[in-house]
Amino acid sequence: MKIGILISGRGSNMVAIAEAVRSGRIPNSEVAVVVSDKTSAKGLEKAKDHNIETLVITRKNRSREEHDAEIISELKKRNVELVCLAGYMRLLSKGFVLSFPNKIINIHPSLLPSFPGLDAQKQAIDYGVKISGCTVHFVDEDLDHGTIILQKSIEVKNEDTAESLSAKILEHEHALYVEALAKIVSGNYKIIERRVVFET
Ligand code: GRF
Repeated sequence: MKIGILISGRGSNMVAIAEAVRSGRIPNSEVAVVVSDKTSAKGLEKAKDHNIETLVITRKNRSREEHDAEIISELKKRNVELVCLAGYMRLLSKGFVLSFPNKIINIHPSLLPSFPGLDAQKQAIDYGVKISGCTVHFVDEDLDHGTIILQKSIEVKNEDTAESLSAKILEHEHALYVEALAKIVSGNYKIIERRVVFET
């Protein structure tokens, strides 16, 4: 399956996916392209180091729909079937979501539906939760809202700060994203209402 990865920044989840594809832990797949909406994204160099084609498609005063249309066109040109958001900091338009039905996936550093949006780890610390974690989910037009694929819980210790919790969660993000993609690529699942049911 051809995978396109969208980033805006550091790209550590993108690297985890690329390495898992290369090693076969995400089977029968190829990362066809990494697209960034930011020229400054550090992940672009990392993608090049992994010999993956990169594209920078900035918003340039365009509407969300126009910007997304260019990204969709570049993904379709490369026969991308599965789109992974990996620190991509923009909401997708309806047109984007409809172009890849149930084939756009995101990772978020909290146990959704708790703490959607920016600074999820700081939100968790500020709220005082004892357990947080990360969530891999399908993407719809709403922020961090689509059907949940997998979640991993992580204990929040008394001494944790937003930074230490972010670092702990990030390690688990990489493993969880790879595990979720391996399952989705295998196709052995059904979506029943808001539930992803894996067939064993
Ligand atoms: C991760 O914490 C991810 O959950 C969130 O944005 C961050 C991206 O980090 N959506 P990276 O660019 O993958 O290193």
